[in-house]
Amino acid sequence: MSELEIKDLQVSVDTEDGPKEILKGVTLTIKAGETHAIMGPNGSGKSTLAYSIAGHPKYTITGGTVTLDGEDLLSMTVDERARAGLFLAMQYPVEVPGVSVSNFLRTAKTALDGEAPKLRTWVKDVNKALEDLNLDPTFGTRSVNEGFSGGEKKRHEIAQLELLNPQVAILDETDSGLDIDALKVVSEGVNRFRAQQGKGVLLITHYTRILRYITPDHVHVFVDGKVAASGGPELAEQLEAEGYDRYLKAGV
Ligand SMILES: Nc1ncnc2c1ncn2[C@@H]1O[C@H](COP(=O)(O)OP(=O)(O)OP(=O)(O)O)[C@@H](O)[C@H]1O
Ligand SMILES: [Mg+2]
Repeated sequence: MSELEIKDLQVSVDTEDGPKEILKGVTLTIKAGETHAIMGPNGSGKSTLAYSIAGHPKYTITGGTVTLDGEDLLSMTVDERARAGLFLAMQYPVEVPGVSVSNFLRTAKTALDGEAPKLRTWVKDVNKALEDLNLDPTFGTRSVNEGFSGGEKKRHEIAQLELLNPQVAILDETDSGLDIDALKVVSEGVNRFRAQQGKGVLLITHYTRILRYITPDHVHVFVDGKVAASGGPELAEQLEAEGYDRYLKAGV
């Protein structure tokens, strides 16, 4: 059971012209068992929110708080955040040449649990996770993300999600670049994850397509570094029909 609470979060990045404010006071609570979707125009700060919560060093927190079950996430290292139960699937997953998928996953699992998973069950679990996501078993021996197609990277992220089984998953455009079958397979993976009790999901997306497979409890419109509006699943449909115009105008 985990509750992720983001309060008045303000974040800036360093640019050549000095610090640039990107998040301008984000407040959002994901209660245990809830799935929230964030939609919003390009450049509105959605990935910045995801990275800031996960602890990416590029972003400077200038105000506000983020807690997981009441614990201050922002004072934790990236590893500590993972051990506390946080998982981030990135919009642009990084390549890790020379590190095989199997080793990478086993190392991550060991770091999380404080002990190495039993080899026999672990190999079985990895093969099942890859199979469930329609990834060839040979993926286990390939370098992480190296030469993976866009869709393979995204499916690999969901295999990670299932194997590491965090408390709260932040999925940044996990649906981008997926073909119709892969979208289904990935959605099923996310749904298996959230079918467990108390799991929280923050799903960043541009498309309502994935929200037809993964029904969110709440939808938020993100504009200019802030939550501009919140609603139920119907808000996603409305955005698809009308675009972001009314929120952009309201912000001026
Ligand atoms: N190092 C940087 N220097 C200058 N601007 C930056 C830097 N890093 C991020 N930004 C800016 O921060 C803003 C928010 O970026 P972010 O990636 O969070 O947007 P997003 O909502 O995820 O967009 P998308 O839908 O395209 O993924 C953008 O305008 C981006 O150019
Ligand atoms: Mg983004």
